[in-house]
Amino acid sequence: MMGPAWWAVLVLLAMADAVAGRFVVEKNSVQVTSPESLKGKYECAIGNFGLPQYGGTLQGWVVYPKDNRQACKEFDVSFKGHKSGARPNFVLIDRGECFFTTKAWNAQLAGAAAILVVDSKDEPLITMDNPEDTGTKHLENITIPSVLITKKLGEDLKKSAENGDMVSVLLDWRESLPHPDERVEYEFWTNSNDECGPKCDMQMDFVKSFRGTAQVLEQKGYTQFTPHYITWYCPEAFTVSKQCKSQCINHGRYCAPDPEQDFSKGYDGKDVVVQNLHQVCVFKVANDTGKPWLWWDYVHDFAIRCPMKEKKYTHECASHVIKSLGLDMDKINKCVGDPEADEENPILKAEQDAQIGHGKRGDVTILPTLVVNNRQYRG
Ligand SMILES: *[C@@H]1O[C@H](CO)[C@@H](O)[C@H](O)[C@H]1NC(C)=O
Ligand SMILES: *[C@@H]1O[C@H](CO)[C@@H](O)[C@H](O)[C@H]1NC(C)=O
Repeated sequence: MMGPAWWAVLVLLAMADAVAGRFVVEKNSVQVTSPESLKGKYECAIGNFGLPQYGGTLQGWVVYPKDNRQACKEFDVSFKGHKSGARPNFVLIDRGECFFTTKAWNAQLAGAAAILVVDSKDEPLITMDNPEDTGTKHLENITIPSVLITKKLGEDLKKSAENGDMVSVLLDWRESLPHPDERVEYEFWTNSNDECGPKCDMQMDFVKSFRGTAQVLEQKGYTQFTPHYITWYCPEAFTVSKQCKSQCINHGRYCAPDPEQDFSKGYDGKDVVVQNLHQVCVFKVANDTGKPWLWWDYVHDFAIRCPMKEKKYTHECASHVIKSLGLDMDKINKCVGDPEADEENPILKAEQDAQIGHGKRGDVTILPTLVVNNRQYRG
């Protein structure tokens, strides 16, 4: 089943959009097959939940309901075809007022085969205004696809439907297979630093609001997620400098900027690197025990329980959180290794290697960055 995975991408993009500005979006097309005057392909953004015929097509008649046009309430009409063999009905729904998932759920309950959500403004698809556009309440039970179409196409379809034309639309997923193994793989490039102003706050808001969805999708096998952390290395000639000593671990091999941009107070860059390393190790150990989603709990709980402001951004505080999640502290410590040692840390080495672009995506240099199926979406 591909649907929920695609929805994950949409949710990700929507959330990411809210977090960090504009993102590139991959679009699909819908095809209008009648009336003659509207025949053609139109761009759309498909946000499928539980689509049963992924890789196939779905053809249906377009219905524009008389009321409840935003589908925020349950419908008191049925969109089910009355005879067997009747073509399915796609319900045209206006964007806004409630969650995307609420609309889909209400339409599904009323027997719709798909929803076409008409954008409320002329704008590039898909720019959801804020996380409130998505919602996760009925996510697990939604099986019909949701498609966002442009305001212009929506208005044309409405006019035709209200005129009594037979409006027929073909949804086509054959060209939009995002990944051969039908699972969305994504990376989230982040940072444990919590004192960098609005940018850090936004990252944390993203983690807080996306955690639940990410965990459900991961548990159901629709996504495969990997968190990543950026570090840089200190040029060899400077490894003994004050800057590198305060910003780096393992003798200049892995560094992060000082959180306060002041080497003499508060936490140093190296504290951030060590915490980032803990987070990667939490992911590794959790993933090895088949529970990668515990990373979200760790990052979330650590941010709340161990903030820099309260001087709790420490190994001790991290250990408490790790233990509270039932993760093996010995394994984590082993993974973290000795930050003072003059040697490579295989985990951070792999992180640095992963920073370099490969295939279609470029190097990761801006945080936060999402890489979905190896394409980069960044703010
Ligand atoms: C989804 O469906 C299951 C089984 O019918 C039900 O137990 C669950 O409460 C539903 N969840 C939501 C959010 O509607
Ligand atoms: C996480 O576990 C999965 C399944 O065991 C594996 O394929 C994947 O490579 C692991 N990821 C990392 C970063 O270790």
